[in-house]
Formats: sequence, structure tokens, C-alpha cells
Amino acid sequence: MDVAGIFENNRKWVDEKLSVDPDYFKTLSEGQNPEFLYIGCSDSRVTAEELMGVKPGQAFVYRNIANMVSNNDLSAQTVVSYAVTHLKVNHIVVCGHYYCTGIKAAMQSADLGILNPWLRSVRDVYRLHKTELNAITNEDERYKRLIELNVLEQCINVIKTADVQKAYKERNIKVHGWVFDVGTGKLIDLKIDFDKILHQTMEIYRIV
Ligand code: CO
Repeated sequence: MDVAGIFENNRKWVDEKLSVDPDYFKTLSEGQNPEFLYIGCSDSRVTAEELMGVKPGQAFVYRNIANMVSNNDLSAQTVVSYAVTHLKVNHIVVCGHYYCTGIKAAMQSADLGILNPWLRSVRDVYRLHKTELNAITNEDERYKRLIELNVLEQCINVIKTADVQKAYKERNIKVHGWVFDVGTGKLIDLKIDFDKILHQTMEIYRIV
């Protein structure tokens, strides 16, 4: 795939969409009303829209290395705030994925420059769940479990935000923790107990 190929693909895609609905892009230009905020990893194999089968306009998407929702990441905090307060999404998804190289890197001892502070947040997740993780003797299984626990912790980080807490008081908003298995293509719902996690989190992190 080269750059010219991408523009060729785009021309074909536009033609295809217009052949089905001549007003397709006109309708898109009128605004968005997505039901989902999807927070996932930047990994090139984990394409948010394609794996969920959603169309343009259905999911507001934020991706970074290892699908983190960091308190000091202005971009992540802004995305959550905008999606919840202005777009009024009722489903916030944190989607991790097996074979995540960001998580793998955080499990190893290596100086990765600017990645160090970013991956330190993943190491914090490991520290929080050290007892459970260290009890897993199989390294692949421990790696998978850290990926799942990182999703759980990022869901908790979403709940820590004032906008999500406010929205929860006003309407039926829910946070979901999912994992995409790159090896099978399957999307796995971790079935986190949102109400329980919310109440546990609010004990300490209640803002509103
Ligand atoms: Co990843």
C-alpha cells in the first residue's frame, strides 16, 4: 500500500457510498449523534469501527498506546468530557486487546525514553494487582490478565471524572470493559459489574 493507493481507495469508497445514497456525505455533514465512546489502543490491527461493525457517525473514538485514560492526559480527559456532556453518549467502552505491545513493553525492564512515563501507568496497574498477577505462573496467561486488569482500571479512571459522575446522576450511562482478541478476531465482554465498581470508586473519588 502506498499513498497513491490510499487516494485511489478513497475515490472508490466515495463512489460506492454515493451509488447507494447520493446524499450520504450531505447527511454526514449535518452532524453526529454517536451512541458510543470507544477508547482503544492505537495498534494498527485493532480497528475500532471495523471490529464493532459500526458506520461513520455511530462511535466517537479515542485511541492511544495501551488504551489508557490518564488523569494528566488532556486529550483523553477532553474526549471523555465532550462525548459525555455534549454528544450525550450513554455507553463508554474501554477496549483493550490481547497481544498488546504496549502492555508487553511495560512487563519488561527496558528504558524506552518518552514511553517510560506513559507505560508507568501500566506498571501501576500491575502493582495494584500484583498478588493476583504474580500467582499466575504461565507468562502468556499473566500477560493476558494484565491486559484485562488494565481495561478494568481504565474503566475506573473513566468513572473518576466529574462529567461521568454528573451524567450518571442524570441518565442511564454505562461503562463497558472489552478485550479484542487479535488472534481470533473475537470481541470479549469482560462483563465488569459497572454499578458495583462505580459505587466502590465513588467512595473515594466522588467529585459531584
Ligand atoms: Co495495544
